[in-house]
Amino acid sequence: MSDKREGKGFAAGPPQGEIRTLGGQRSTRSDKRGGDIILEVRDLHVEFPTAAGPARAVDGVSFTLDKGMRLGLVGESGSGKSTTVLALMQLIKAPGRISAGTARLAGDDLLAMTAQQIRKARFSRIALVPQGAMNSLNPVLTVRAQIDDLLDAHQQKPDPKERASHVASLLQRVGLAATVANQYPHQLSGGMKQRVCIAIAIALSPQLIIADEPTSALDVIVQKQVMQTLIHAQKEIGAAIILVGHDMGLMAQFAHVVGVMYAGRLVEIAPVKEIFANPRHPYTRMLISSLPSFATRKVFRGIPGVAPSIVNPPSGCAFHPRCPRAEERCAREVPIDDVISAGHHVRCHFARELAPAADTGAALA
Ligand SMILES: Nc1ncnc2c1ncn2[C@@H]1O[C@H](COP(=O)(O)OP(=O)(O)OP(=O)(O)O)[C@@H](O)[C@H]1O
Ligand SMILES: [Mg+2]
Repeated sequence: MSDKREGKGFAAGPPQGEIRTLGGQRSTRSDKRGGDIILEVRDLHVEFPTAAGPARAVDGVSFTLDKGMRLGLVGESGSGKSTTVLALMQLIKAPGRISAGTARLAGDDLLAMTAQQIRKARFSRIALVPQGAMNSLNPVLTVRAQIDDLLDAHQQKPDPKERASHVASLLQRVGLAATVANQYPHQLSGGMKQRVCIAIAIALSPQLIIADEPTSALDVIVQKQVMQTLIHAQKEIGAAIILVGHDMGLMAQFAHVVGVMYAGRLVEIAPVKEIFANPRHPYTRMLISSLPSFATRKVFRGIPGVAPSIVNPPSGCAFHPRCPRAEERCAREVPIDDVISAGHHVRCHFARELAPAADTGAALA
């Protein structure tokens, strides 16, 4: 209880990692080259202008990610997950804009890079498997031509023999036959197309892979295979991953650290075991309690209410109109970053009052 600190951000470190708060406080570990941190996002804000005023799609998001770790970002539709990861690659389309923040990848601020620098960094240092990735493949080019385009753009593997063997090895690493290189996207199944997108993402061995809902259009069996492929590829090149999704169950299996977004803010982040055993934000608890379980039979309930407007979000804690624990204070004050334990950060005024519960569904009833 003595570790309540004020700060703007959250730290996504390994389960046994030390506490690192952001937003005005320096981490004790090095965040420049040589430390364990590969990505440090601080106070990121992204806005889209609308007739009614700016829509704050990302509203002060901060976190760190250690080398080789997998961060799962969850939250309901419109909570700002894709906007957060697109901002890291400077892919927010005008008139949308990154209005504040830094995102240091191995010390270099991705958001301060020039157009030429970020173009060079994309795929070679930070790669994206975009939302709906399988539809992002060019239908009139073979898989080989699409990988060639990327290698040409980065002037990699100019020797044709070396190039061909690199393409074959990339496909093999994602569980595809080398002959897939000669096929067109329409000749491939959804799972195969998703594997091709992963092959493209790892082609230049980036330090960070962002996968935005990489399996949402696939059935559960293929979903698991594709996730395993992604993780296998990630381990081979030693990259860190940000995995975006809605599915807390999938995160439980594949993420080391889980971050929960609500209305453009990161409201809770913790090592995966900790967040499932000891969720502290009422929204996280409701997300977890909506998971089906073999152990308990229960009536499934959605989270009452609707996602808030990001143009005129509720005052104070944006979740308060839907929150079963809300009091008058919640409408007045934005909760600070409360550090519950190593790597476990929550933005809720009552984060310390909610007793750890084995059955979060019962706790919220
Ligand atoms: N180009 C845009 N113009 C205006 N508003 C936008 C634009 N892109 C995103 N937004 C808004 O920003 C908010 C966050 O969107 P975002 O796509 O990041 O959500 P998400 O959490 O990824 O949702 P989903 O789970 O549906 O993919 C939403 O309210 C969305 O309407
Ligand atoms: Mg999205």
